[in-house]
Amino acid sequence: MQKSQIQTLKQWDKKYIWHPFTQMKDWETKDPLVIDSAEGIYLKDIEGHVYMDGVSSLWVNVHGHRHPRIDKALHQQIDRLSHSTLLGLSHTTAIELSKRLVEIAPKGLKKVFYSDNGSTAVEIALKMAYQYWQNKGHFKKMGLIHLGESYHGDTLGAVSVGGIDIFHQVYRRLIFKTLSLQSRGWGAVEELEKLLHQKAHSIAALVVEPLIQGAAGMLVWPDGVLKKMRALTLKHDVLLIVDEVATGFGRTGKMFACEHEGVSPDFLCIAKGVTGGYLPLAATLTTQKVYNGFLFDMKEKKTFFHGHTYTGNPLACAAALANLEVFRKERTLQKLLPKIKYLTEKLKMFKELLSVKEIRQKGFMVAIELKGPQEEFLGTKVCQYVRRYGVILRPLGNCIVLMPPLSISIKELDYLLMATFRSIEEAGTFTKK
Ligand SMILES: Cc1ncc(COP(=O)(O)O)c(C=O)c1O
Repeated sequence: MQKSQIQTLKQWDKKYIWHPFTQMKDWETKDPLVIDSAEGIYLKDIEGHVYMDGVSSLWVNVHGHRHPRIDKALHQQIDRLSHSTLLGLSHTTAIELSKRLVEIAPKGLKKVFYSDNGSTAVEIALKMAYQYWQNKGHFKKMGLIHLGESYHGDTLGAVSVGGIDIFHQVYRRLIFKTLSLQSRGWGAVEELEKLLHQKAHSIAALVVEPLIQGAAGMLVWPDGVLKKMRALTLKHDVLLIVDEVATGFGRTGKMFACEHEGVSPDFLCIAKGVTGGYLPLAATLTTQKVYNGFLFDMKEKKTFFHGHTYTGNPLACAAALANLEVFRKERTLQKLLPKIKYLTEKLKMFKELLSVKEIRQKGFMVAIELKGPQEEFLGTKVCQYVRRYGVILRPLGNCIVLMPPLSISIKELDYLLMATFRSIEEAGTFTKK
């Protein structure tokens, strides 16, 4: 690309785009990195620089960019149908994908309700859980319980069950009241038990990110917590919503995090990796029991009145089908296990760095938490430094997040770790113990 064209694009970016989760005052002072193409686990910018995609393009990419099988499926789908609605009609690709999703989902999840991003997948589960009890005449069962540091997306329903102050505090007066568990791990289980004992008659559902809370900085749960929470919700007749938007599609080492503890929830929310990181698609899977709670005569007005225009878009569904096919053909999950072990082993070297407070990992989801006050933005600094090594990372506060595509090789993983290690050192937070 010519220099003048590069400059024009950068100027237009600043002139026309308001970037998400970005302080634009800061952005305007910086030279933007503009991506133009990609291949495998690498992104290429308009100046020809190549970067390893160390956070899977915000936790979505699974098998690498431009995977031939997914590309081909999309080309074929474009030649047939790019969009037709699921409101009052159906289409072949959504039908096939729904069957496949039910086949791979935890047992008992039988129905697939589509939307187009993680937040809406959660909104839908919240609304369904609430309306399920309303439809049954249990009018008091309307409360929602969530974890203290939870993150379920940015729409107002999802923010209502969120607990990360930096993202959510400003909207507190705008959202609905919920019950939040303040402790972590087994402490949260104890709180839940007490709460359900006292108030289950007024609670519709518990919503959780299973096993690891991503946006909170990859907080890893002790083994058994999810299973126990499931047992408590069953005992007290409260619905369980499991948000696998981040953990789904292999990130924790199994297709779904629920599988680690043999848990089958009432709702499973999926998005991000469902299309292999190609297109926006989400789904809320639920049980026959919940579905049956919406079967009434039309005049009773108990229909689930919800649906987004691009719900179940055929192109996105085709990408999702191809994504699952790649999982099967390339034995992605089997190949992932030794890589996870290797990563666990290698992460130990970060303990050498005095500036590292804690390392947290579940499968291919990693946070390296740095010491120091949030205001110093050490995470951001390290992520700037790592670009010199041709790696893209995005921090969460003081945490450096590593979440590469599952297709990364051991050699590439080594490079990612080396670049991250050196960048922490060079960011001036490096004193060796
Ligand atoms: C657990 C979880 N739920 C929901 C969301 C929201 O997804 P989206 O950004 O697609 O709305 C995210 C996004 O990171 C997430 O990590």
